[in-house]
Amino acid sequence: MLTLLRAIEAVYREAKDGPLAAASARIAGLKARDLRPGWSSRKPVASFVREAVDLGRRGPLAEIAEAFAAVEPLATWLQNPNYSVENMGPGYVDRYGYVELIGPGRPVESADLLVGLLMLGPEMHYPDHAHPAEEIYHVVAGHAEWWREGEGWHRKPPGSVIHHTPMTRHAMRTRDEPLLALYCWTGDVEVYATMTETSA
Ligand SMILES: [Fe+2]
Repeated sequence: MLTLLRAIEAVYREAKDGPLAAASARIAGLKARDLRPGWSSRKPVASFVREAVDLGRRGPLAEIAEAFAAVEPLATWLQNPNYSVENMGPGYVDRYGYVELIGPGRPVESADLLVGLLMLGPEMHYPDHAHPAEEIYHVVAGHAEWWREGEGWHRKPPGSVIHHTPMTRHAMRTRDEPLLALYCWTGDVEVYATMTETSA
């Protein structure tokens, strides 16, 4: 989107006044963050989708992997606003993102349910965090390691179901494969996850 806008601006730039000059001025200096979600939302983590979908096709949730591959180019990628380059580092935000299908303001409206797909790139650590919503993950692709307070780390293959009760501290880390996981939140779905004090 930004590339297209810049190409348009290059055409309009010579206009001295009138609508083209106004449009050129409006476009000049735009950053990705200035665009409305839906256009600017393809996050760097989307570069791992193809690899994840190829892995997912070989697993028990192949139908989800296939269907996600079909809609992903048009999907709105999101990130938790509590996580930023400043507090998580660029290696994190470039390897993390999710697409939400059901939820407040999502394609399928719901006030008390979130359903989406989380994507983590390879060699990535999503540290110890918690949220008031109850959460159930289904691993679509990737053999990531999952941590839950009191239980340590466990490698979970595609098809695994992981359940986090409200405010349970949990974490994930990937090795050489990306992770694609379907999640479902219920209850207090409008409160984002926050990092917890200890680090798994
Ligand atoms: Fe969670």
